[in-house]
Amino acid sequence: MKTVTLSTLQAFKRAGETFSCLTAYDASFAHAASQAGIDVLLVGDSLGMVLQGEQSTLPVTLDDICYHTRCAARGKGASLLMVDLPFMSNASTEQLLRDSGELMRAGAELVKVEGEAWMADGIRELTRRGVPVCAHLGLTPQTVYQLGGYKVQGRDAERAEQIINDAKTLVEAGASVILLECVPASLGKAVTEALDVPVIGIGAGPDTDGQILVMHDILGITHGRTPRFVKNFLAEADSIQGAFQRYHHDVKQRVFPAPEHCF
Ligand code: KIV
Repeated sequence: MKTVTLSTLQAFKRAGETFSCLTAYDASFAHAASQAGIDVLLVGDSLGMVLQGEQSTLPVTLDDICYHTRCAARGKGASLLMVDLPFMSNASTEQLLRDSGELMRAGAELVKVEGEAWMADGIRELTRRGVPVCAHLGLTPQTVYQLGGYKVQGRDAERAEQIINDAKTLVEAGASVILLECVPASLGKAVTEALDVPVIGIGAGPDTDGQILVMHDILGITHGRTPRFVKNFLAEADSIQGAFQRYHHDVKQRVFPAPEHCF
């Protein structure tokens, strides 16, 4: 299997080919997902909810993420390893640089940060120092209390325009990838077409360059409310490995997400 790098994702975008992304938090699942062909693995701060049983991603610490990054890095195979900066890593540029340094030392190949256009300076400084950045826009789970819940973002024209402009600003500042969460499919398409960097979507419609889901969701072990954009791929497979392969295949063939998974 050929190692996936940022250049691979850019080539996928230029060729109009989609790519698959999945969360992974340890060596065994990272290995299984990588063997199934998943292009990008994310050590997401969703680990707070799916591993630690917390109500949100906010309690997750830098040490938690570094521990799971070291584990996932040992199993990641040819996949690209993206890692989440935890809540408040974006409190200042100094904090952002320090925390990103820790994640890169632990094995991250791309760091993901939540924030809007005001993150531009921090992203510029990270990029200058050779740290590739994915900027997470739309529904940003670390601001769930401000947003008033896990709600679709960008339904109205003003907020949609703000998300498009934020994405452009962060790409100008150096972001190599944009991740869009929970936005109408039309906005997912507009952002993807407006940018020349890869756009990964979760609940952002079928037209983003890549798709990402949380591993526990595709294995059907989500507890609590199941978001509309989730699909249980294990229900159609006879093993975990089979579910990962099915997800990868359906993303590559643009079978997933189907209209019932979109807003
Ligand atoms: O933490 C996470 O798993 C994420 C995905 C939902 C994109 O950020």
